[in-house]
Amino acid sequence: MIGRLNHVAIAVRDIGKAAKIYRDVLGADVSAPVPQPDHGVTTVFIALPNTKIELLEPLGKESPIAKFLERNPDGGLHHLCYEVSDIGAARDALRAAGMRVLGDGEPKTGAHGKPVLFLHPKDFAGTLVELEQA
Ligand code: CO
Repeated sequence: MIGRLNHVAIAVRDIGKAAKIYRDVLGADVSAPVPQPDHGVTTVFIALPNTKIELLEPLGKESPIAKFLERNPDGGLHHLCYEVSDIGAARDALRAAGMRVLGDGEPKTGAHGKPVLFLHPKDFAGTLVELEQA
């Protein structure tokens, strides 16, 4: 079912500081910060040869990553995003296998403009999983 690792997302308190480390110390190709008010985050994408890193900084009071940063004040690994060819079919198969899909189960438009869903971390080895339609 799952295809390529689309990105690894890291939640941070200071996206400028984190982006600078990836750009200036690690020498990576780093995007400008993009506010995503619909998602309650500001994102920076870092292009690596085989995948991307997504830096997430809270945006607004209702940010979905605010609680994560309370528990992880230094920031940390937030989710992994895997590509699937048919997100509706993937959701149905996962539900049939007893896996929990977060929210109402309807794919939302993610940070790349493609349909995404999130899966419960307790069902996936303690890791929040995002599925993105490739
Ligand atoms: Co993501």
